[in-house]
Amino acid sequence: MKKVILAVFTIVTLLAVGCHSSIKVGDTSYKKSDAKAGLAIYDVGGKCTKCHKPKPVDSFTPERWTGILSKMIPKAKLDDHEASLVTAYVMTHAKKG
Ligand code: HEC
Repeated sequence: MKKVILAVFTIVTLLAVGCHSSIKVGDTSYKKSDAKAGLAIYDVGGKCTKCHKPKPVDSFTPERWTGILSKMIPKAKLDDHEASLVTAYVMTHAKKG
């Protein structure tokens, strides 16, 4: 019985680790789970849609996004954690440079 529990535990752990896979953009790796959480802030969360509709993320390259985010993150008053999630979302969905 203990072996079965251990086996199940091992499988669940491996699956959980698998979900934390990351996407590399330039020299930076972003967690897929962060990108997903970032979408919620970017879009339905309303933080980036207070002043305008959500802009198509793939209209801008990662280089453009770096400049845009440095203006928009303060506008949206995101805290550091929210900022990192939104950054992960836009960078992993940006136009391929
Ligand atoms: C307080 C109002 C406000 C909030 C909140 C806001 N924006 Fe903006 N955004 C603007 C204005 C005004 C412009 C157009 C002028 C400019 O580019 O500065 C703009 C333009 C943009 C553009 C187009 C830039 C370009 O060069 O065409 C993008 C992309 C964008 N915002 C993304 C975001 C994201 C992502 C967030 C959330 C982190 C956000 N905005 C939150 C006011 C806001």
